[in-house]
Amino acid sequence: MEKVRILVVDDEQRVRDEIAEFLTRNKFQVFKAGLPSEAFNILSANKIDIVILDIKLPEMDGLTVLKKIKESYPGLEVIMISGHGDMNSVIEAMRNGAADFFPKPFRLMDINMAIQRTTRYINLHSKYKELEKKFSLISNEIQKQIGHQLIGKSKAMKSVINMMSKVSSVENTTVLITGESGTGKELVARGLHLMSKRNKQYFHSVNCSAITETLFESEFFGHKKGSFTGAIENKAGWFEIANKGTLFLDEIGDMPLSQQAKVLRALEERKVSRVGAHDKIVVDVRVIAASNQELEKMSYEKKFRLDLYHRISSFIIHLPPLRERKEDIPLLLNYFIDHYSKKLNKPIKKVDPLIAKELVKYPFPGNVREIRNMVERAIIISENDILKLEDFQIGKTDIFDNINNMPESEEIWDLEVSEKRLIKKALERGNNNKSKAADFLNISWQSLDRRMKKFNL
Ligand SMILES: Nc1ncnc2c1ncn2[C@@H]1O[C@H](COP(=O)(O)OP(=O)(O)OP(=O)(O)O)[C@@H](O)[C@H]1O
Ligand SMILES: [Mg+2]
Repeated sequence: MEKVRILVVDDEQRVRDEIAEFLTRNKFQVFKAGLPSEAFNILSANKIDIVILDIKLPEMDGLTVLKKIKESYPGLEVIMISGHGDMNSVIEAMRNGAADFFPKPFRLMDINMAIQRTTRYINLHSKYKELEKKFSLISNEIQKQIGHQLIGKSKAMKSVINMMSKVSSVENTTVLITGESGTGKELVARGLHLMSKRNKQYFHSVNCSAITETLFESEFFGHKKGSFTGAIENKAGWFEIANKGTLFLDEIGDMPLSQQAKVLRALEERKVSRVGAHDKIVVDVRVIAASNQELEKMSYEKKFRLDLYHRISSFIIHLPPLRERKEDIPLLLNYFIDHYSKKLNKPIKKVDPLIAKELVKYPFPGNVREIRNMVERAIIISENDILKLEDFQIGKTDIFDNINNMPESEEIWDLEVSEKRLIKKALERGNNNKSKAADFLNISWQSLDRRMKKFNL
């Protein structure tokens, strides 16, 4: 174990040396300072664990030094040496974060005990910090890249993070992420990429529902110039683009059945050939797939290839819907309040406690995306730095308001007609921006895209 580093600050040389000698004998690494200014120089140049600090010092008194140390080095522990019967200063020092004290004249035993108590505390504390760091290392990195942390303290989310850290190190395993829309599948996929050794390489995200069947092969595997009309140049496919990195196959349940065998072959052989070319190109790609559909069930209904399902489902991470992990709701609420108040530059000083209470009761069919949108909207509406319950339109997006205000006709009871109308309305409201419209509808733009295709919009 590394030696604990102690700085002794006392203006009386005799005391300083005596303590230092004792500590050195006891296998500590010791630094000495007679003046506060010397002490600060040493602190800025060395990593010190504990300071032993006299209360009476020239330049400035020990209490002031203590405060300054705690300001600049909050993790550092300070043990005070107090004058005879100077109990008031001791109390003041303890109030200001001193870890322990011993009075002058002291017995070396007293110092020893104070140090033992303090190091025990430091060890515990650093273990705790280490744990905390490990937990946030994942989320900090993820956050930097994709703008959101993976929030959650529920058992379910902890187990998701645990699974992520296990599988991220097994470099080539294909991972299937399942869960309802808005539960964070893409976030987890990006997180997995960032946690793996491939993180310096490309994360290529592909929405399987958005590719037309005719272009499928060319998109996935590339093509040779002239291999079909329109192939005016050689083109690399997604497997090649993602080489050495991660290929994210989102909404894999929507991959045309006719194309699935080709993808399966590429996964098994780890080789692809461009359309119109004969040679095979070796690709080193980690595939992460996501789906909000029940692929296994689909494969028994012959809507998805069973062999492909088996190939991609060796490691499944399931994201439970938010209604099954309600303890995450207040955390997400706070997180998004913080996030959007910064992003929208609207400081929020007060949050009505009723909001969390009410949100916990709500089932969130749109999952995390819905609470995110709800908070964003609420912050936009809020006034005077206060977030009120009324600012939250719990369970009724503007769109649903719209339905309520629609004239009652037979048509409204036709689900497809209403769905189509809602989508049109959302697109209008979002100035034809698909992701905005999808946000209004609390669905991902991928599922919006799928629906738009279905309705020929
Ligand atoms: N645990 C979480 N902590 C913080 N933000 C989250 C969490 N889960 C999801 N989000 C946020 O919610 C939104 C939706 O997440 P994401 O796009 O990953 O969902 P999805 O499961 O891929 O949805 P879909 O099936 O509709 O594509 C994103 O803005 C994401 O950052
Ligand atoms: Mg998604």
